[in-house]
Amino acid sequence: MITPTEWFNKNAHEYDTKLSSDLANAENEVLFDYLAQEINKGDTVFDAGCGTGLLLDYIDIEPLNYLGWDISEEMVRIAKSKHPEHKFICRDILEPCSEGFDVVVSLFGVISLMDTIEEGVKACLSKSAGKTVLMVNGSRDPYSREDSIYTLCNDEPVDVKTLELTEWLEILESCGVKNCLTLPFNLRVDDFAEECLSLDAYKYILELELMTPNTAWYKDRVGFYLTTVF
Ligand SMILES: C[S@@+](CC[C@H](N)C(=O)[O-])C[C@H]1O[C@@H](n2cnc3c(N)ncnc32)[C@H](O)[C@@H]1O
Repeated sequence: MITPTEWFNKNAHEYDTKLSSDLANAENEVLFDYLAQEINKGDTVFDAGCGTGLLLDYIDIEPLNYLGWDISEEMVRIAKSKHPEHKFICRDILEPCSEGFDVVVSLFGVISLMDTIEEGVKACLSKSAGKTVLMVNGSRDPYSREDSIYTLCNDEPVDVKTLELTEWLEILESCGVKNCLTLPFNLRVDDFAEECLSLDAYKYILELELMTPNTAWYKDRVGFYLTTVF
């Protein structure tokens, strides 16, 4: 196993191109349609584990209102080249930040790469003066998903923690979260990955999955839990 910093430095150059299938693009479109409702015009946004700046590829945020931190200098270098007006810093999100943001986001399993998920949750909450949107890996092993970045670049694996829904809800509670909404992100859509459906068909399935009540999916193998803390 190599560290997340080593893994992302090594694979940064092909991160965006590997994640450009119709299914990956459908995931992005559905996620950012959801996030666009959580981020109001003029909100300040902290992107915890910003990677190559995916959030800014989809949502128009004024440069002065955005700050992205990532532990991998190669991911940050690519983010800066794609979005030269925005501010990205190569820094561990566990480090404190002097300001609080209207919206903190941590997308596509950043905190699932950390030594303990609790410390990742607390680090994100500590930077928030409003909403926090956390996306952690769910109960399905990302190495079992054909379209996961970890399968696509799997010559040297990195440890990605998986969680049952009950464990995730307990972690949120232990971090003092009282008011939140948790939705399933990518429940079964992976089953259709080899069917080569259209981007719109993948989006339709993902959107239906987001509307599924958790009584119906809590025992299922879930790709990610998408939690908004209010
Ligand atoms: C799966 S990528 C997701 C990137 C981005 N959030 C996205 O949605 O495209 C995980 C990112 O988390 C970063 N990361 C992992 N641990 C971190 C930490 N402790 N502090 C900051 N960034 C971290 C990695 O370098 C990588 O860029």
